[in-house]
Amino acid sequence: MNGGLREYSPSNFNVLFKNYTLLPYFAIYPGPNAWFPVPNKSILLIMGGGIAAYKSLELVRRLAERGIRSRAILTKAGAQFVTPLSVSALTGEKVYSDLFSLTDEAEMGHIQLSRSADLVVVAPATADLMAKMAGGLANDLASTTLLATDKKVLMAPAMNVRMWESPSVRRNRAILEKDGVLFVGPNEGEMACGEFGPGRMAEPHEIAAAIEQALGADGLLKGVTALVTAGPTREPVDPVRFLANHSSGKQGYAIAEALVAAGADTTLISGPVGLTAPPGVTLKRVTTAQEMLAACEAALPADVLVMAAAVADWRPDIAANSKIKKSVDRVVPLIKLVENPDILAILARGPRRPRLVIGFAAETDDVVQNAVAKRTRKGADWIIANDVSANEIGESVMGGDRNRIHLVSEAGIEDWPDMTKAEVGARLAARIAEKLKGAA
Ligand code: PMT
Repeated sequence: MNGGLREYSPSNFNVLFKNYTLLPYFAIYPGPNAWFPVPNKSILLIMGGGIAAYKSLELVRRLAERGIRSRAILTKAGAQFVTPLSVSALTGEKVYSDLFSLTDEAEMGHIQLSRSADLVVVAPATADLMAKMAGGLANDLASTTLLATDKKVLMAPAMNVRMWESPSVRRNRAILEKDGVLFVGPNEGEMACGEFGPGRMAEPHEIAAAIEQALGADGLLKGVTALVTAGPTREPVDPVRFLANHSSGKQGYAIAEALVAAGADTTLISGPVGLTAPPGVTLKRVTTAQEMLAACEAALPADVLVMAAAVADWRPDIAANSKIKKSVDRVVPLIKLVENPDILAILARGPRRPRLVIGFAAETDDVVQNAVAKRTRKGADWIIANDVSANEIGESVMGGDRNRIHLVSEAGIEDWPDMTKAEVGARLAARIAEKLKGAA
């Protein structure tokens, strides 16, 4: 191991790269914390009192993975739900809670604390904290800090659905929004109190993405244009039937979200999925592979192309104009398939080739080996290989929330650990920024 570069001796070369004779002796290994979409940034996390406070602990962990440091203020109510010790263990910092602590003031005054980070995040943001900030109250450390800060504030509200919908909370939210406070969530769902509706705090990965977006307004990919594809394509057999696959679009959408968070001007060409467009992304919906190709060509030029879509390799030669009926003599209709255009190969070899062309490889066997061959065959710079066979409990990357990928490039192979699709997106955005910067 040498400065993040994993070197392989000729003796283990054969084992690791058995059939990859063109690959050099090393693969770049970025290390567990070496991918920073928004490096050297920090947040001040204000944790209000709510059952969702436990999710803020997970948020701290996820931010640390992205290289974003957290310092926390835990309100008195917040300390009823999580302990200062657990917050401190995760942030690696002292936890602040008392406005009148002489020790704290001597170490770091509350004014300094309010300005020590690049962004102030309130999670959970209770109705009380929202009201205090909207009304300019300053009667404890959290509210004083919110009043004194000169940084952007992002709130992740969490409260009972009736409270969230009450006129006073709505009024406070409108005031805060007018004052430039950013919001993420709340989400709709079943609440800890048993009621259903909007009020659940956004999930840690959603808050992390919103933080990256807030921090990355002048981000690493500012000035870069990105084209991302996601989801399956549907190839009609007749007006009611089609050929498709299990892609949910989650991975491609997460990549688009991360690219926007890093400041890229991002267009997402999506097959039919049940997801909403990430904020800030220009979304174009398509159905078939041919439509996807046309939409991609119309969206060029772009600096980066990420083909995460599971494009159908074949389509029925002729799509019937009316529903194909079962025949009385039970003769099964024959459907002749023809090959779809290979969008990735066409764009990678076309006159408006993006500077960085990234394809995916969805494999069930010989995952890395097939991806290495695919990279050459399709003319991509990078291929991201993922194993799409179902695991022991029947879950698959297709449709699931997690992914374990291998990044195949001319430099070798990076094996990334199992992570959420949002984390794959964030880490990929960081690698893209690194690559483009190196190439500039
Ligand atoms: O959508 P999710 O549920 O989140 O699942 C994510 C995913 C598994 C779909 C995604 O991570 C993934 O692997 N996408 C690529 C799926 C695929 O079509 O793989 P492939 O090995 O068949 O194709 C290789 C590459 O060529 C891909 O970049 C694909 O977009 C592209 N391709 C394929 C066929 C074709 N006609 N045109 C293409 O451009």
